[in-house]
Amino acid sequence: RLTGLVCILLLLAPSQCLACPFGCECFAVTHTVKCVSKDLLVVPQDIPGYTRNVVITGNNMHQVGPDSFTELQNVTNVILSNNRITELASHTFASLTSLHSLDLSGNQLALIHPEALSIPGSPLQELNLSCSLHNFTTLTDLATALRWGGLWGLRRLDLSGNLLALLPPGMFSHVPSLQQLLLRNNSLVAVYAGTFSGMNHLETLDLTHNDFEAFRVDALQELERLGNAQIFLGNNPYTCSCESRDFVTWLNKTRARVDGDAVRCASPEELADTRLQGLTVQAIGCVVPVLAEVADLTLQTSYVFLGLVLGLVGMVFLFVLYLNRNGMKKWIIETRDACRDVLEGYHYRYEIDSDPRLGHITAGGSRSQRHLGQALSQQNSSTLFRKKRKYILYFI
Ligand SMILES: *[C@@H]1O[C@H](CO)[C@@H](O)[C@H](O)[C@H]1NC(C)=O
Ligand SMILES: *[C@@H]1O[C@H](CO)[C@@H](O)[C@H](O)[C@H]1NC(C)=O
Ligand SMILES: *[C@@H]1O[C@H](CO)[C@@H](O)[C@H](O)[C@H]1NC(C)=O
Ligand SMILES: *[C@@H]1O[C@H](CO)[C@@H](O)[C@H](O)[C@H]1NC(C)=O
Ligand SMILES: *[C@@H]1O[C@H](CO)[C@@H](O)[C@H](O)[C@H]1NC(C)=O
Repeated sequence: RLTGLVCILLLLAPSQCLACPFGCECFAVTHTVKCVSKDLLVVPQDIPGYTRNVVITGNNMHQVGPDSFTELQNVTNVILSNNRITELASHTFASLTSLHSLDLSGNQLALIHPEALSIPGSPLQELNLSCSLHNFTTLTDLATALRWGGLWGLRRLDLSGNLLALLPPGMFSHVPSLQQLLLRNNSLVAVYAGTFSGMNHLETLDLTHNDFEAFRVDALQELERLGNAQIFLGNNPYTCSCESRDFVTWLNKTRARVDGDAVRCASPEELADTRLQGLTVQAIGCVVPVLAEVADLTLQTSYVFLGLVLGLVGMVFLFVLYLNRNGMKKWIIETRDACRDVLEGYHYRYEIDSDPRLGHITAGGSRSQRHLGQALSQQNSSTLFRKKRKYILYFI
């Protein structure tokens, strides 16, 4: 209305003037409308009907919805990058029935309605969501929008720079025509069976500048399933240890076209910047540790075996002892008695020899005195012996 008023006041050629929204530039020859860094809060309403390319960037629109675009059946490209858009409402682009390419990069999408991308006739071929997803919740929103959007014709999807760590399984199975999937500059660490299911026409898969350290067998099968697509795997922090063996073997023989020259080790230090393709199992440290492990294992087994044998011998010994317990008891008693006899005799003689009283009596006494001495000494030695015998029995 303001532009119209200005035009009437200035009496300029009304067709040209009315044709261009306030704050925008219109290029009739190239069928292009540009509204760059004008702090627009909403998409201008009066975009001319001849427009094919709409470029609205660097503005301040939080929400775009079905009212944002009126019937503009000739528009094929819409660039809405860097507009701080946080919400995409249902059927936002439904009136743009010829829309081939939509660029929403550099926004902060926190909410994407399940039918935000639905357009009758599925004309959309390119969708740029680079650096535009707020967090993982938005990614799941997007997965739903891809499913409900009927994007049968989508050929190129750019999801780079979104800090993605994980892709929901089967996320791309509802965009069957996808030829280029760009996932560079994210934080992806793994590909799983099903991550790329349903993609039968993929020509380019860009996984560069992520956080992959290696690909496991299921991931390699998933990549192999992509046929002869061009797969970019460079600039990831690959670990060249024995855990990467399957990956190296796959790189050696895959029919997929991989940027082998860019797939290089980040660690260990001695292999840093070495190409993974063509590395031998020895180079990634599989052979030596495996042999050492085997040696270690045999040593351990032999120790265990030795322990078992010793245990068995001990048990047999105890069993034999148990069977002979009566004989043993008899033998112990016999030995004990024999010992007692020997020791008793020995001590008796010792006591007599060492007692000066008794020695005196024995040496020069009468017969009666000798009798007395013998009685005395027997009494002495037997009390002594009762004590000592206890120790001997205890010992036996
Ligand atoms: C859209 O383009 C066609 C031809 O390319 C043209 O005939 C038609 O008038 C255009 N529509 C509008 C609203 O200008
Ligand atoms: C998507 O947008 C980003 C930023 O504007 C740009 O660098 C990138 O080339 C675009 N992707 C495609 C596939 O055009
Ligand atoms: C994503 O951001 C929205 C809005 O800020 C928040 O409500 C939601 O919990 C966040 N989700 C995750 C997984 O962080
Ligand atoms: C990578 O993504 C981050 C946001 O996640 C962005 O700030 C940065 O510019 C991107 N880098 C390149 C080289 O595209
Ligand atoms: C990869 O191929 C090279 C020869 O091209 C071979 O020497 C190496 O052992 C192979 N590595 C693996 C892990 O199969």
